[in-house]
Amino acid sequence: MPNCLIDPLETALPIQAVREDAYKKWRDAQDSTVQSWLAATGFRGKGGETALLPGDGGPSGAVYVIGGNDDRGGLWAWASLWDGLPGGCYRIDTELSATDAYDAALGFALASYRFERYRNPEDLEKEAANRPFLVWPEGCDRDSVRGAHGASVLVRDLINTPASDMGPAELAAAARELAEASGATYREVVGVDLIREDYPAVYAVGRGAEDSRAPRLVEFTWGREDAPEVTLVGKGVTFDTGGLDIKSSSGMKLMKKDMGGAAHALGLASMVMAAKLDVRLRVIVAAVENSVSGTAMRPLDVIGTRKGLSVEIGNTDAEGRVILADALALASENQPDIILDFATLTGAARVALGSELPGLFCNDDGWADDILQAGIATADQVWRLPLYQPYKKQTKSKIADLRNDTDSPYGGAITAALFLQAFVGEGASWAHVDLMGWNLSAQPGKPEGGEAMSMRAIFSVLAKRYGS
Ligand code: BES
Ligand code: MN
Ligand code: ZN
Repeated sequence: MPNCLIDPLETALPIQAVREDAYKKWRDAQDSTVQSWLAATGFRGKGGETALLPGDGGPSGAVYVIGGNDDRGGLWAWASLWDGLPGGCYRIDTELSATDAYDAALGFALASYRFERYRNPEDLEKEAANRPFLVWPEGCDRDSVRGAHGASVLVRDLINTPASDMGPAELAAAARELAEASGATYREVVGVDLIREDYPAVYAVGRGAEDSRAPRLVEFTWGREDAPEVTLVGKGVTFDTGGLDIKSSSGMKLMKKDMGGAAHALGLASMVMAAKLDVRLRVIVAAVENSVSGTAMRPLDVIGTRKGLSVEIGNTDAEGRVILADALALASENQPDIILDFATLTGAARVALGSELPGLFCNDDGWADDILQAGIATADQVWRLPLYQPYKKQTKSKIADLRNDTDSPYGGAITAALFLQAFVGEGASWAHVDLMGWNLSAQPGKPEGGEAMSMRAIFSVLAKRYGS
């Protein structure tokens, strides 16, 4: 893994990698056969384009034009290489910086991703014959590429798997598999045990599906016990029907991805453990299905939470913040260095920032600045939104401590984040990422479907703080 990157191979065709602004100069230095071939095939030399070059009885190699240095950043400037090559083996024949080598390898690997679980093996085998392979670029940090690629594949696969095969039990099994493979200590609290062990909010959301798809609280810990504790929390709603406040069919359609936050927590954990960062890592996932049933929670029910705050359910579709309430309370009990939570929490965050930019809420400006900077450096941007305290009054209930919805149609990502903040311990550094976790349409390196967003950015901050 990733199997599209291969060891050096004599027969691999050389690729000249040229930046867009240097293309004309490169072309003019080629021999006349190459020049007339490029002219005859109408090759324009725009960023992201690839052309095979003529040779005796077949191509002698290829030229790849590295895209512009806009906000798509270095990684995505490389990602279209995979799409431009016919099946075969290639190597980059241009000397690359370590950063370019990393971006080229990771971009190629991310572009090669396909969700294959339900595909016919014969078709897959036929397609494999037409796939390009790339020799690992020289000077590239292979372990970092493997870590980031493996984590992205994990996130994408988990999100893309439909709810029929990715219920709370299967999500928990994925967490357990990762934990056991890394020597972490795993535990899980299932069904009515959630009440006994004081996770009433997780139970309240999941109880509508208890018989077939029991809700659960999943936790694993890894690393040196007295290292600084980093706690990752994920929203694991394996399907969000909206509950009795049922969603429209278009609103429900993508809701198999509502465990995307949990997928991100697991993906980031895999990177932290693979890189052996010097942290005490704790991962907490609340895994439930928000279903319509006779035992589902009702609008205006009042439920208890682990922290002791009562919550009035103004809307059964605002379920993510309810399960995260217990998960964040648990996370806070150990006073970690930082709590990071990931959630496909609100449609309002998507209205504010669109589908590609996750919203970052953070009560610690140092951490927030580091994450924003890392987002730019890793081509994995996030945008900060405010924990604007005056809006907190909108989350007050007339009969309970809090309500899970508001009367106003405005600022829904902020009021959701403020609701979460009520469950985070005083004095804790905390960052909350409200993300889409899904590519609505394919772009270079980003196939349509499940996607990791902010994960590489946040890993790079953790690696700087806790790496050796
Ligand atoms: N999972 C959804 C949020 C969501 C919707 C994320 C679409 C990405 C795309 C969440 O559980 C939800 O339904 N939120 C409601 C909250 C509202 C009822 C207060 C929303 O955003 O509409
Ligand atoms: Mn919902
Ligand atoms: Zn949801």
